[in-house]
Amino acid sequence: QIDRRVDSVMRLMTLDEKIGQLVLYSSHFTTTGPTLPKNVEEAIRNGTCGNIFNAHVPEYNRELQRVAVEETRMHIPLLFGYDVIHGMKTIFPINLGMSCSWDLQGIENSARVAAREAIASGLNWTFSPMVDITRDPRWGRVSEGSGEDTYLGSLIAIAMVQGYQGTTPEALASDTTILACVKHFAAYGAPEAGRDYNTVDLTDRTLRETYLPPYKAAVDAGVGTVMAAFNDIDAVPAHASQYLMQQILRKEWGFNGFVVSDFTGINELVPHGVAADSSLAGQLAIEAGINMDLQGDVYHRFLKWLVETGMVPQKQVDIMCAEVLRVKFALGLFDDPYKYHDLQAAEKEFYKPANLAAARDMACKSMVLLKNDKEALPIAAGKKIALIGPFADARLDLLGSWYGQGQADKVVSILTGLKERFGADKVIYTKGSEPDKDDRSGFAAALNAARSADKVVMAVGHPGFWSGEATSLTSIRIPAIQQELIREVAQSGKPLILVLLNGRPLDLSWESTVADAIVEAWYPGTEGGHAVADVLSGDFNPCGKLTMTFPRNLGQVPIHYDAKNTGRPYTPGQGEQHYVSRYLNEPTATPLYPFGYGLSYTTFEYSDLKVAPEKTDMKQPVAVTVTVKNTGKVRGTEVVQLYVRDLVASVTRPTRQLKGFERVTLEPGESREVSFTITSDAVGFYRQDMSFGYEPGDFKVWAGGSSDAALEGSFEITK
Ligand code: IFM
Repeated sequence: QIDRRVDSVMRLMTLDEKIGQLVLYSSHFTTTGPTLPKNVEEAIRNGTCGNIFNAHVPEYNRELQRVAVEETRMHIPLLFGYDVIHGMKTIFPINLGMSCSWDLQGIENSARVAAREAIASGLNWTFSPMVDITRDPRWGRVSEGSGEDTYLGSLIAIAMVQGYQGTTPEALASDTTILACVKHFAAYGAPEAGRDYNTVDLTDRTLRETYLPPYKAAVDAGVGTVMAAFNDIDAVPAHASQYLMQQILRKEWGFNGFVVSDFTGINELVPHGVAADSSLAGQLAIEAGINMDLQGDVYHRFLKWLVETGMVPQKQVDIMCAEVLRVKFALGLFDDPYKYHDLQAAEKEFYKPANLAAARDMACKSMVLLKNDKEALPIAAGKKIALIGPFADARLDLLGSWYGQGQADKVVSILTGLKERFGADKVIYTKGSEPDKDDRSGFAAALNAARSADKVVMAVGHPGFWSGEATSLTSIRIPAIQQELIREVAQSGKPLILVLLNGRPLDLSWESTVADAIVEAWYPGTEGGHAVADVLSGDFNPCGKLTMTFPRNLGQVPIHYDAKNTGRPYTPGQGEQHYVSRYLNEPTATPLYPFGYGLSYTTFEYSDLKVAPEKTDMKQPVAVTVTVKNTGKVRGTEVVQLYVRDLVASVTRPTRQLKGFERVTLEPGESREVSFTITSDAVGFYRQDMSFGYEPGDFKVWAGGSSDAALEGSFEITK
């Protein structure tokens, strides 16, 4: 039905109008609101610009939509895109933080809340989810993704697509859902040396096994659009890659939405060195299957000429245009072009109590308790707290990067959160230092505050703008001035609790020796201060688990839990080993905090790991059960994780791979049996001939609360 409607529109369109559907321009934003350059306004009116991004004011967008549907010859509605990454007005924790909740429903709900606030802003398209697998904390965009693991990343990709678009294909047409855009296709998260936009060089096996599944999961979940990646991969920039855009995305996966370039990604084929000029870049991109040119002005300027000179077949433009129109139909825009332009919606949707409650809940769940010695946490009521550090009273920094239209003045600072929870008279605040300025003038006051308190909470880390696009770093430590401040304050001898604000794994090898407790709070969003207070007070028992490995130092990077064994593995706890895979100056090859790790105010014990059947031809899945018990004194939530290893195969296999998890909440003394199913797909991999499937042999399984879980079992796949 949609295809017929698309055909009926296409038949009436001129070449200029078809190209117009492939054009996406950004609005500027001034203090008086969004504006479009005159020529873009004109292009909307004459049907040669069919899509706008960065305009997010309902009245303004409605007027642009009116021009498109009432004043143009073809009356085709506009798409309005925006980077709604972890919230639009109510800002949730950064995505890396949210992934540490392992709470798929909560993550889906965060996308649903974001979608509704985006709709109330006049938007119908978000450039999210970002599902790039990330294994190098130098890369600033690790904050936008879900970490290092393919399995978890794929499930989160599905949850986010469903949160934005709804859970059925029809739901996309409702007025409470928006179009999602999975990005950045492909493998943008693997730039050499963690430097943004840098070359990606992966084997096809690694690409397919580790990096592609989350994009595929999003496509299978019905994502309407895909954004191409800035990087080249195997020497072909993604924007010119027929292998990625045609072979994998459309032929193998059956994607029937459209592909948008990244910002000037088509133009960048020139500096990449695969196109001599912008017009030839346009030719490569359209042939590869990039439907829409984001801000590059290449299609707008050159596509007609490319067709008229025979360099691009008109048919290719037709296909590209039809794919865009199909998505506009699926979104219901032709049926009601104003359904995203209810001018009263903002007042009802923005920061509504349910949104703030969801953001607070997610912020609590995202926090990871990395260390807690001497019962430094939780802090009992009545205790005097010295709150110190450059982020203690910060607001904007709590939003991290890509914070939509989140307002700093709506952010609950940590200071506000602690004062509300513990009483204003119980919190002594002093900043101590700036995030990264060589100025010790606040040190003395900080030490005095610490001396006069029962416990010291220090909010330290990285400013929010150190994360996101183009924020690669060659150091993952917190700045030296903050380390000096910690050292100064530690002289007080008071229990020292660090609350970390940052968007990437850090090197905490020194901090972990001086602090009694460390809470990884990420950039926790609008409700950050409340959530920090919830966690520090014990009102919320922390349950976050790391989704990216924290190394001992940057020299170990890239380091991830599902590494290969090598021919000379290092074996922890076996004394001096020289000719093994490790570093001379860092003999401990393990990370500081592994993937899946995170503490609680209670403790959990695992027992009774059962695997059945122990021998199988995999016609039936393998069932694994394990009992988990809350052995502490308070209620707590544990993320029970299942890992599998294929011991001998025709190609080398990771030493562990996550294959299942479940969040369970247990009262003190309560135990629960948790069950997992290992399917033939779960033990499948790209074999030597690159066919996908499993091989017979022995497998090990582990269940526990981290990727270094010790409780193990085994099974055998028979021939
Ligand atoms: O969506 C983003 C992308 O992730 C990075 N470059 C700019 C795009 C549009 O803002």
